[in-house]
Order: sequence, then structure tokens, then C-alpha cells
Amino acid sequence: MRILITGGAGFIGSHVVRHFVRKYPDYQIFNLDKLTYAGNLANLKDVEEAPNYQFVKGDIQEPVFLDDMFGDQRYDAVIHLAAESHVDRSILSPTEFVHTNILGTVHLLNAARHYWQAHPAPAGVRRVFYQISTDEVYGSLDEVVFLPKQPPMPPNLLMPLPKPVPTILSGLITIPINCRC
Ligand SMILES: NC(=O)c1ccc[n+]([C@@H]2O[C@H](COP(=O)([O-])OP(=O)(O)OC[C@H]3O[C@@H](n4cnc5c(N)ncnc54)[C@H](O)[C@@H]3O)[C@@H](O)[C@H]2O)c1
Repeated sequence: MRILITGGAGFIGSHVVRHFVRKYPDYQIFNLDKLTYAGNLANLKDVEEAPNYQFVKGDIQEPVFLDDMFGDQRYDAVIHLAAESHVDRSILSPTEFVHTNILGTVHLLNAARHYWQAHPAPAGVRRVFYQISTDEVYGSLDEVVFLPKQPPMPPNLLMPLPKPVPTILSGLITIPINCRC
């Protein structure tokens, strides 16, 4: 299994990368991150030499680059965490939120769609695309429970807007290629 994790140098992504690298030594884990102000490879010092781990510096806003990466590295699954995630920055620079969170997600979905439609899954592999969303979409947890898949509409402010859009797009775009999202 070859898994692409986007935003793996970020706060949550680095824990996800570490978890997969350590727990699944037979899987190849690819961390694709632009290394914005929020990304820090020092988060992953302890796994950077692992034989099943590879870092790629790149931007999900570049569709040709993403198609090339899928072709070269043949991802079977995607865990998509790369995002602009800081609410206060969404007030100062809303355009970057739309570019990364919405357009970047569409480019990533398209790259998965292009590659997975052209290359059937190897035997025993089920393709999945996980779009990581947020409590700005699903609401706060009063207790630890699993939440419904269908997100409510954003409650307030600017930052929540670019989060439900990729959440919804991921479902719509992956259905025609029979991929679980
Ligand atoms: N931190 C939280 O409390 C929280 C809570 C709920 C959901 N989330 C969601 O989880 C995901 C990860 O959150 P986080 O706190 O780890 O975010 P973060 O801001 O710490 O990390 C985001 C990562 O994405 C990378 N990135 C940004 N733009 C990119 C681009 N165009 N191309 C490639 N990489 C890019 C950054 O370099 C960074 O490493 C986000 O979707 C966020 O909305 C976060």
C-alpha cells in the first residue's frame, strides 16, 4: 500500500505521518507538504530515516505537479490534511484559504481521479481518499462520539467557508470512481 499524506509537516499531519510510518512498516508513506509558516520538518526528525518514509516538498495548488507525483509514486490512498488552518489568518488573507483549501483540494481529487481511473487498483487494495475536515464544519464535541458524515453548513465567519466545500467536493468527486471518501 502506497499512501500519500498531504500537510504531513503540520501540527496534526506530523502525528498522522509518524503513526503510519511506525505502525505499518510494509506501507510506503509519502509526505507532501509545501512547508509554509505552519510546516516544520523538525516535527518528524524521529522518522525521517525510516525506509518506508519519503518527504516531497510541493504545493497542492499545482495540478501538473500532482499528476506527475501520482504517476511517479503510484499512490493507492490519500489522507488530505494540507490546509490553511489558522482562523486569524483567514481574516487577513482570505484568498490564500480559497486557493489552498478549495482549489488545492480539487486539484488533488482530480489527480487521484486521473491516476486511479487509468490504473486499476492492485489486487487486494481498496482506494480511499480521506479529506480531513474540522469542528468548524461538524460542530464541537460535548462528548467523544462519532459524528454523521454529512456536514452541517458553516456556523459563522470566513474561515469555516473553505472547509465544508472540500468536504462536500471530496464526496462528490470520488463517487464516480468508486472510491471511498
Ligand atoms: N489544529 C486543529 O485544532 C484542527 C482541528 C480540526 C481540524 N483541523 C484540520 O486538520 C488539518 C491539519 O491541521 P493542522 O493543525 O495540522 O494544520 P497546520 O496549519 O499545522 O498544518 C498544515 C500543513 O499544510 C501545509 N500546507 C499548507 N498549504 C499547503 C499547500 N498549498 N500545499 C501543500 N502543503 C500545504 C503546511 O505547510 C502545513 O505543514 C487541516 O485541514 C485543519 O483544518 C485542525
